[in-house]
Amino acid sequence: MSKPRIFSGMRPTGRLHLGNLLGALDNWVKLQDEYECVFAVVDWHALTTGYEDTGEIRENTMNLVIDYLSAGIDPEKSLIIKQSDVKQHAELSLLLSMITPLSWLERCPTYKEQLRELEGKDIMTHGFLGYPVLMAADILVYKAQVVPVGEDQLPHLELTREIARRFNFLYEPVFPEPKERLNEVVLLPGTDGRKMSKSYRNIIEMSASADEVKNIVANMVTDPKRIRRRDPGDPHVCSVYAFHKVFSKPSLDEIQKECKSAGIGCVECKRKLADALNEYLEPIRARREAIERNPGIVHEVLEQGARKARIIAEATLEEVRQAMRI
Ligand code: TRP
Repeated sequence: MSKPRIFSGMRPTGRLHLGNLLGALDNWVKLQDEYECVFAVVDWHALTTGYEDTGEIRENTMNLVIDYLSAGIDPEKSLIIKQSDVKQHAELSLLLSMITPLSWLERCPTYKEQLRELEGKDIMTHGFLGYPVLMAADILVYKAQVVPVGEDQLPHLELTREIARRFNFLYEPVFPEPKERLNEVVLLPGTDGRKMSKSYRNIIEMSASADEVKNIVANMVTDPKRIRRRDPGDPHVCSVYAFHKVFSKPSLDEIQKECKSAGIGCVECKRKLADALNEYLEPIRARREAIERNPGIVHEVLEQGARKARIIAEATLEEVRQAMRI
């Protein structure tokens, strides 16, 4: 019995941070034994909103692969691919675009929201409207049954199922309808207590060095009412404590008590957090350093991934062309 297949991907838009690691990559890593996984860097998708300035796409793609590998995605178990290496994604996207009603795309909530949010950027393009069709092709070209995603991607997955159903109805039943598998939500705020997001400059990059982590933590926002060392603190308004909740689970009660009784100062409490973060990041750093000593590995991984992915994808395309009489 073969394992069920998983597909997921991320756009190469810059270095990943701890929020991405806990919110997505750590989940992917856990799925590798149970499923046959394909993890993609979706560089064509990056063009949908970033077609004007493409200067960093290649570098970002390489860095994202390094982030995948250092998080523990294992190329012996999973396929790691660059979307643009597997042209079958494009062919399937084109064919699916023929059967996808415009109205489905126009009423997609992510489309309407992005149009509003990215006001000033000209994304009134065919490619941007067709984002979910390309995403459906990514998933369906591997006949993936399961797609690990965040909640924000649910409308795209619903559309993917609708497109699959329409294809199966119009021609022949070729595609399974993929199910989402929601990433476990980890409540990790940014270093200032807001949502961790590149645009707020409150992130800790996955690739941060031990010293960078110490520095960032030293500058984190604590209970603003705790001014002097002897003032008792309120852990529940402290972003350092929010991090402890994720990274220092065994000593959480103690940290909470010590903060409330002013038994421990913020400096000491931050030192503990930096140690815990660095311990968590250590194996990730070790893998990254191994890659940096042997950078050719990134190309090899992508080549091997593309070679195997093309075989699976081409088999699907043969069925699709047959079903459509192309
Ligand atoms: N839209 C996804 C995101 O922004 C990226 C993506 C593209 C994707 N194709 C996919 C995710 C296929 C899952 C499956 O995060």
